[in-house]
Amino acid sequence: MRTNVDVDYLFRLMAQEKKRQLNTLELIPSENFVSDNVLKALGSILTNKYSEGYPGKRYYGGNQWIDKIEIKVQKLALEVFGLEENQWGVNVQPYSGTPANYEVYFALLRPGEKLMGMSLTAGGHLSHGHKVTYSGRTYQAVAYGVDRNGWLDYEEIEKLALEYRPKLIVAGASAYSRKIEFDKFRAIADKVGAYLMVDMAHIAGLVAAKLHSSPFEWADVVTTTTHKTLRGPRGAMIFARKDKNVKFYGQEMSLFEAVNKAVFPGMQGGPHNHQIMAIGVALAEALSPRFADYARQIVINAQVMAEEFLRRGYKVVSGGTDNHLLLVDLTPRFGPGWGGAVEKLLELSGITVNKNVVPYEQASPFWPSGIRLGTPAVTTRGMKEEEMVKIVELIDRVVRAIKPDWVKGRKSNKELVDEIVAKVVETKITDKILIEVERLTSNYPLFGW
Ligand SMILES: Cc1ncc(COP(=O)(O)O)c(C=O)c1O
Repeated sequence: MRTNVDVDYLFRLMAQEKKRQLNTLELIPSENFVSDNVLKALGSILTNKYSEGYPGKRYYGGNQWIDKIEIKVQKLALEVFGLEENQWGVNVQPYSGTPANYEVYFALLRPGEKLMGMSLTAGGHLSHGHKVTYSGRTYQAVAYGVDRNGWLDYEEIEKLALEYRPKLIVAGASAYSRKIEFDKFRAIADKVGAYLMVDMAHIAGLVAAKLHSSPFEWADVVTTTTHKTLRGPRGAMIFARKDKNVKFYGQEMSLFEAVNKAVFPGMQGGPHNHQIMAIGVALAEALSPRFADYARQIVINAQVMAEEFLRRGYKVVSGGTDNHLLLVDLTPRFGPGWGGAVEKLLELSGITVNKNVVPYEQASPFWPSGIRLGTPAVTTRGMKEEEMVKIVELIDRVVRAIKPDWVKGRKSNKELVDEIVAKVVETKITDKILIEVERLTSNYPLFGW
């Protein structure tokens, strides 16, 4: 039957992806491997149920168990981040990080009002006001960056804020390897009367394990994805203060109430109950002492990796890392624009990283000069310091196979990248590294896979 053929085909593709995940080194800092229980929750019958609204106030019948699940997940979320129910509320329905951020903007801003976030080139996220996104097209977005060494420069941020007077300041990043000083953002926000939103998507697991200072003392609203260091399913949460008010389309209410209205019915329909359940499972896991050990090892591993890159003569943006990720700037070796070629060659070697812009990037954003690496996924596999040193050695062997005089002074484009990749592949180095990667990953299998 046609249906079976198509379904078989899709499952075969899924099996290939599973094999890829098992046999390669996953170094994308925003990715992780969830537990069997998180997978079980995601693939469950909870996907069958409609429950528009909130616990006790649904538009559909039959939600008695769904209500209990959502209430329990909210309680777990507050517990993981040490929050009091009378001060903070949490909405666990956002489908993912980008919609969660837009929901906060919907709650706090009107179209045309000013939003200030970190620029994409400095390490911010698209949803923090980039011009091609809903956030940049709907609000007047002002971007702050980092200094020449790759560190947030709070004096500059303050100057910008005083000049532009945004109504909302967003703190948080996708490619920033240093601690973020939320108290300084609060002081700046207070000077201009702005709301402060912290997007802790990348570092949520580290905040939960108290390895990064908590944003909750300072922020009005905190958003997070649940699938990065927190090691849950794809999804997001919005925490908002109950003791601070906002006028939401003519009606005075708490920030939390406005956020709830912005999520549903503002921007979403029925919650994904299987996803909410899986977030709950991940939060329960994050409360265990084993999770704190895991989070500590993530940071140790990233620091060992950064040190090994530095020892081998690489430029690491900001000189190292305090968290789970690092940004390697390849400009000194190759000139601007060769992060993509390195990403491709590493992929052919079984090592997954992503090309990334570096601060003060001279190349086009399509051909950035850096690579971004992170340790959450390999740490979930149980890898430690020794393996991090080995991984950097493998990456270095691939990078060194690109001769600087092939690329220096040349502008990267698809044809040139393809040509260089082909030249390196011819040396068989990618095949050799692939075998070593498979040996390494087979020593660290994933859960019950
Ligand atoms: C800081 C930050 N916020 C939000 C997001 C968006 O999350 P999603 O991809 O789930 O929309 C990301 C994703 O990488 C992120 O890094």
